[in-house]
Amino acid sequence: MIARVILPALVAIGSVSAQSATCTVVTTTINSQADATGLAGCKTVRGSVLIAPQTGASIDISGPGTITGDLILLNNGEIQSFRSDDLTTIGGTWEMKNVTALSTLSFASITKVKALDWQTLNALDTLSFTSGLTQAEEVTISDTFLSALTGIDLTSVKTMRIDNNRRLTSFTTQLRDLSDELRIQANGQRLEVNMPNLTWIANMIIANVTKFSAPSLVTVNNSAKFDFNYFSDFSAPNLTRTQSGDISFVGNVNLKNISMPRLTTVGGGLLIANNTALIELNGLPALKTISGAVKLRGSFDDVSFPALNDVKGAFDLSSTGDIEKSCTEFKKIASAKDGGSGKIQGTYSCTSNNANANSDTSSTTGTGGGTSKPKPDAAAGLSLNTVLLGFAGLAGLAQALL
Ligand SMILES: *[C@@H]1O[C@H](CO)[C@@H](O)[C@H](O)[C@H]1NC(C)=O
Ligand SMILES: *[C@@H]1O[C@H](CO)[C@@H](O)[C@H](O)[C@H]1NC(C)=O
Ligand SMILES: *[C@@H]1O[C@H](CO)[C@@H](O)[C@H](O)[C@H]1NC(C)=O
Ligand SMILES: *[C@@H]1O[C@H](CO)[C@@H](O)[C@H](O)[C@H]1NC(C)=O
Ligand SMILES: *[C@@H]1O[C@H](CO)[C@@H](O)[C@H](O)[C@H]1NC(C)=O
Ligand SMILES: *[C@@H]1O[C@H](CO)[C@@H](O)[C@H](O)[C@H]1NC(C)=O
Ligand SMILES: *[C@@H]1O[C@H](CO)[C@@H](O)[C@H](O)[C@H]1NC(C)=O
Repeated sequence: MIARVILPALVAIGSVSAQSATCTVVTTTINSQADATGLAGCKTVRGSVLIAPQTGASIDISGPGTITGDLILLNNGEIQSFRSDDLTTIGGTWEMKNVTALSTLSFASITKVKALDWQTLNALDTLSFTSGLTQAEEVTISDTFLSALTGIDLTSVKTMRIDNNRRLTSFTTQLRDLSDELRIQANGQRLEVNMPNLTWIANMIIANVTKFSAPSLVTVNNSAKFDFNYFSDFSAPNLTRTQSGDISFVGNVNLKNISMPRLTTVGGGLLIANNTALIELNGLPALKTISGAVKLRGSFDDVSFPALNDVKGAFDLSSTGDIEKSCTEFKKIASAKDGGSGKIQGTYSCTSNNANANSDTSSTTGTGGGTSKPKPDAAAGLSLNTVLLGFAGLAGLAQALL
């Protein structure tokens, strides 16, 4: 790259010697504000910038507009204020981990990073991103003291992970699509998530939230998991299908109403279990095709899927309450072996007054999903399928042997 601006004087920054506005480094380490000031003459830092563990309370890296590599700040318990008025672009990862006293992060011009990876920033309570970060492929914000994510204004990302931010009570984003994974869990107990513009998403894991809203969501390419939330109503008014993964609702203690009026296709399995306040499950009137298995365990007294036409896997419905009427309807479409029309291809089971109905949430955890660090891709989508299909196969075999 040819620098367009030639500085009149030498810019000397420790090991970096620069004669132009582009300063080439492999990694330059900033130990003090003097080092940071030494970079101020560089328009572009070609390389990475590492902030050392002992810097004092304040570092201002104003000057450079671009760092082509990473910006790294690790294991620093001294820094309280970190700022740049000019930095717009980080070509690599903006990594900050174990920076326990940092409370002020002021990057007025930042708009673009490749990845943002922040973990254990226990004192960080506000972001001052005046321009707003509008481009990033991967975002992890974990274990901060942030109560809002103001200034993170992305419309398209690959992955986004927001977890263990215990003060975070509101997250509203204009995100339109997400091509790998969204994971929101273990944040503030009153976290409300609003995604008004989201139209498609590959995978999502939403846990421990009080509200989730995605009114424009049409397609989930793989799987959607809503486990251990506090919302009482769940609605996805425009969701039509998951292309290849599961939908699950497990252990949502207050959940009374699941409404997905346009959902026609679940490309994986459907698991709804141990949502003990969910008495009526009739908000999926258009659901026609389920490519995996269906497992519904709860305190229901009414379950109906009036459009259900094709279930490739097993169908297992059990309630602590009396659901005889619902069972009568489902039995009509059970497999031929079970005396039905065969719309359900796998093993059919429907039982009322099962005191243990809520204690079986196994299919998501049985294969190591659950609390393990999932990679919810097609594989996560398959877990319910394979487990339940396998189970259906075994149960079928067991029945055949009787
Ligand atoms: C976190 O940073 C502190 C210095 O502030 C250091 O003493 C500690 O070992 C670091 N912790 C980890 C897990 O690296
Ligand atoms: C997900 O599905 C949407 C809508 O069908 C499509 O536009 C998008 O390309 C798909 N994304 C991936 C990662 O397959
Ligand atoms: C999000 O949707 C609102 C209307 O609901 C619209 O005003 C806004 O421009 C959209 N934002 C993006 C980034 O698409
Ligand atoms: C939060 O959700 C996780 C599942 O992601 C669950 O294991 C945990 O018990 C939940 N915590 C609370 C306090 O609900
Ligand atoms: C839901 O889908 C309908 C029809 O496709 C569309 O007109 C409407 O704007 C969508 N609603 C939202 C909130 O995106
Ligand atoms: C469930 O929620 C949907 C959408 O919000 C609403 O139309 C429906 O009336 C609710 N059903 C019950 C039983 O509250
Ligand atoms: C079911 O949910 C209740 C809380 O509503 C909880 O106490 C119980 O442990 C859960 N059971 C299973 C098997 O997850």
